[in-house]
Amino acid sequence: MLRAVFIGLSENKSLRHFAESSAMGRRMSSRFAAGLEVKDAVAAAKKLNAMGATVSIDNLGENVTNAAEARESAKLYHDMLDELSKDGLKANISLKLTHMGLDVDPALCHDLVSELVDHAVKIDNFVRIDMEGSPYTQKTLDFVHELHRIPGHSGHVGAVIQSYMRRAEADVEKLLSERIRIRLCKGAYKEPADIAFQQKSEVDANYVKLAKTLIKSGVYHGIATHDENIINELKQFAKAESIPASAFEFQMLYGVRRGLQEQLIKEGWGLRVYVPFGTEWYPYFMRRLAERPANALFIAKNMFRN
Ligand code: FDA
Repeated sequence: MLRAVFIGLSENKSLRHFAESSAMGRRMSSRFAAGLEVKDAVAAAKKLNAMGATVSIDNLGENVTNAAEARESAKLYHDMLDELSKDGLKANISLKLTHMGLDVDPALCHDLVSELVDHAVKIDNFVRIDMEGSPYTQKTLDFVHELHRIPGHSGHVGAVIQSYMRRAEADVEKLLSERIRIRLCKGAYKEPADIAFQQKSEVDANYVKLAKTLIKSGVYHGIATHDENIINELKQFAKAESIPASAFEFQMLYGVRRGLQEQLIKEGWGLRVYVPFGTEWYPYFMRRLAERPANALFIAKNMFRN
């Protein structure tokens, strides 16, 4: 119920405008975002690298409405790749196709993302294409398959699969048939019952089943969850199957379950932290509240603490 409220709010344009332009809103966003500028994300990546975590940096934003905005978003990612390379950071980038103009001009979006993957290839880096709501699922996967098939791109671009989607298993099989790297998550959007599991138990069961397939696949994948029970089950599974920690990585969001992040690193598991930054933080922030409404209370308390 509260999840649906927060997801509804994440799409409210007036609230978004108000929140993103107010000082109080920006203060709230710092709970889940590294800051507003490239330098803030780079600073966060340095700290996380020093802690033993690798990073994926997301320039916050989605659903741009014109080509100039799409080009601007892509430019920022090029600058980011240069910064990461210059500082020798263990960090790649994550992006959303609607931030690169998918709704405005798919051909432009294809060119912009392909150029980013070319850039990543040159500096031996990697581009993760985030997964958005279901109107974009097929288009996004088609995009990733196409990008992956461009000579030289293989291993430098990857997809995201959401375990709440009923189609997830079939999509995993198709991606694995081309050895495309996958980030597995549960899914952050509100989807109808005909295409997505609604019960947490079903989403979790599908997650565990798919994660085991990925861990055993011989391709390097990202297991993105903060669910401690699932993480423990997968650690046991890897040990029982003699799969080394280096064969895959766990992934978590910046600012979420920090203690668990440190514990995984201490135990020798690979951990990548997803670090969002930028001015367009509102929809991302509201989806984080939807995942754990108690966060809203926690943030409210901290806002008024001296
Ligand atoms: P679940 O929601 O079941 O939570 C399990 C436990 O984790 C909770 O009990 C709580 O302890 C903790 N927890 C979870 N979320 C929390 C939060 N926000 N604050 C505090 N504690 C929290 N989604 C998507 O649709 N497309 C995408 O591309 C991505 N990309 C992505 C990258 C990475 C690295 C991560 C970790 C996640 C995503 N997601 C995503 C989001 C994902 O789909 C999902 O919404 C969240 O990860 C929450 O699901 P959990 O697996 O953590 O489990």
